[in-house]
Amino acid sequence: MSEAGSLVDELRALEREARDAITGTSDSAALEQVRVAFLGRREGRVSRILRQLGGLSPEARPAVGAEANRVKQVLRGALEERERRFARERADTGTPARDLTLPGRDRWRGARHPVTLVVDEICDIFARLGFTRARGPEAETEWYNFVALNTPLDHPAADEQDTLYLKGGGLLRSHTSPVQIRILERYRPPVRILAPGPAYRRDTWDATHAPAFFQIEGLAVDEGITFVDFKATLSEFARRFWGPGTRVRFRPGYFPFTEPSAEVDVKRRVVGADGSVEETAWLEVMGAGMVDPAVLENVGIDPERYSGWAFGMGPARIAMLKYGISDIRMLYENDIRFLSQFA
Ligand code: PHE
Repeated sequence: MSEAGSLVDELRALEREARDAITGTSDSAALEQVRVAFLGRREGRVSRILRQLGGLSPEARPAVGAEANRVKQVLRGALEERERRFARERADTGTPARDLTLPGRDRWRGARHPVTLVVDEICDIFARLGFTRARGPEAETEWYNFVALNTPLDHPAADEQDTLYLKGGGLLRSHTSPVQIRILERYRPPVRILAPGPAYRRDTWDATHAPAFFQIEGLAVDEGITFVDFKATLSEFARRFWGPGTRVRFRPGYFPFTEPSAEVDVKRRVVGADGSVEETAWLEVMGAGMVDPAVLENVGIDPERYSGWAFGMGPARIAMLKYGISDIRMLYENDIRFLSQFA
């Protein structure tokens, strides 16, 4: 083979080798090393071949020179393109790419709503006392919300001031007591149910009122149920929920659908960090009473044979006491920063 031919072959082999080396680099520093190895003025392998040009015959020189220049140009182009790619990558990830001293990002965890926590806890306690969970519609009729509950429509509770009436008749239930009627219509005693759910009233939206709020209705109807069962069951519930030292007080009250009626208050015992024991003020936690015989008659249950008791309580208020929440609106605004504290 001619001297020119072997040098041209050598240049082409170098070209392939250099291209592979360029594609194999992963950063600018490595790329610079490849550039020096092939195109470096002194020691570069392509430059060394160019330096041999002077020793070639005048006929061989142009062919080798042209090939050497072509290879040089191709390799410069490949180096530049690779460098542009590294620059793009740096711009994408930002420089410096990672700050390894930053704290890790916590995983997002969902939480049950504080009112749901209280509802479930109350339902669990009553479940162990033999009560089943029940529910009824939120859009009701005057019959279920008032009349069947021994509340005449001219009673202040039925007033448009308090109750949200729906267009075309019907209303949004103003308490969960209509579930008493719905259950007693469908099931004969013995009946023991707990019915948590929303109720609605035309109330202002302030720290202690919400126009949509949660209630839990309780109802027990059976043969031979007395005022003693009523007091004993609710006292037992209060001690299981607020602690064994809790005192319970039944104050006379009035509801059209219970007779006698009571407002139930609790006084909790709080043990301080230093072991000292203090009692809280009396807190009203529910309205309750013995089911009025007229209510049983309205659903075709013989009040001579059956009797019962019922209560209605507000789990939002109980959650506020339990978790030290001062504004009821926090429970309904669904601010994740507030709610995530219960995770
Ligand atoms: N429904 C009554 C209220 O909303 C509470 C209650 C329920 C009272 C059951 C007695 C019996 O205030």
